[in-house]
Amino acid sequence: MNSKTAWTRKDLLGLQELTREEIELILSSAVSFKEVISREIKKVPALRGKTVVNLFYEPSTRTRISFEIAAKRLSADVINIATETSSVRKGETLIDTGKNIEALNVDIIVMRHNYSGAAMMLAKNLRASVINAGDGWHEHPTQALLDIFTLQEKLGRIEGLNVSIVGDIAHSRVARSNIWGLTKLGAKVTVCAPSMLIPVGVEQTGVRVTSDIDEALKEADAINVLRMQFERDTEGAFPKQLEYFKNFGITAERLKKAKKDILVMHPGPINRGIEMSSDVADGANSVILEQVTNGIAVRMAVLFLVAQANEQIKNKGAKKK
Ligand code: CP
Repeated sequence: MNSKTAWTRKDLLGLQELTREEIELILSSAVSFKEVISREIKKVPALRGKTVVNLFYEPSTRTRISFEIAAKRLSADVINIATETSSVRKGETLIDTGKNIEALNVDIIVMRHNYSGAAMMLAKNLRASVINAGDGWHEHPTQALLDIFTLQEKLGRIEGLNVSIVGDIAHSRVARSNIWGLTKLGAKVTVCAPSMLIPVGVEQTGVRVTSDIDEALKEADAINVLRMQFERDTEGAFPKQLEYFKNFGITAERLKKAKKDILVMHPGPINRGIEMSSDVADGANSVILEQVTNGIAVRMAVLFLVAQANEQIKNKGAKKK
């Protein structure tokens, strides 16, 4: 990594727009924060006096809690907004909600939204930093960063690794962010799904495409198994659950044909018995819970970097006045 790389973005909206060096800077910062949270006193004053709001328009267990813990470990004040009980229910627009949160002197808004592009729209309209915690089918950058961090921690590198992403690629923001991040860092990525769940033109991002699960497993150093988003099946086009499990489900039997020490990953939540059997989810190759743990260090890094950059942007603005 180029140690001279500086983080200058006030927001983190996706991995598509980041350079390899910026991704590596987040990952190396996360290594330092992982050391911090392994100490007896797991807290540093890096964001003391800053306020972080978690604004989630969709359900979340891992991401919301992980951002909350990350912000608290950095000594920020944290507020969680449940949109079901906020004025969003009275028809307030996203930008009005954002501007009102900003008027309360909030420094960082972490947002999950069901519309692709919602985080970018908010970021363009606010001076506060915006971190995308998943927007529609577009991106889920911190999930991909924690996936990549886990791969690097377990396997010592990303360059040259064979990583297969299996499942509902078409509707997956996790897949998109992983594809951008992994390919920028030099991994060889394969996506594997039934043909109706492979987005048109995905091979233009530099990935290999297959609908043969054994092919996807054959050379893989890791597989990242995605949740089947059956709730998106508005046209009845998805395979039935049993059919999907039979043809694409990751089972102990299937793993016998893969590398012995293949890493099994999943962003969660898992549909056990649909995309993966329980013995695999809980088995020796699984790093699923380690991914969750690593999310804290990665999110600490992101919160820290955007806060620092935004401070510099505001200082420059103040000097110009
Ligand atoms: N991986 C992930 O985004 O999980 P949550 O929906 O629980 O946040």
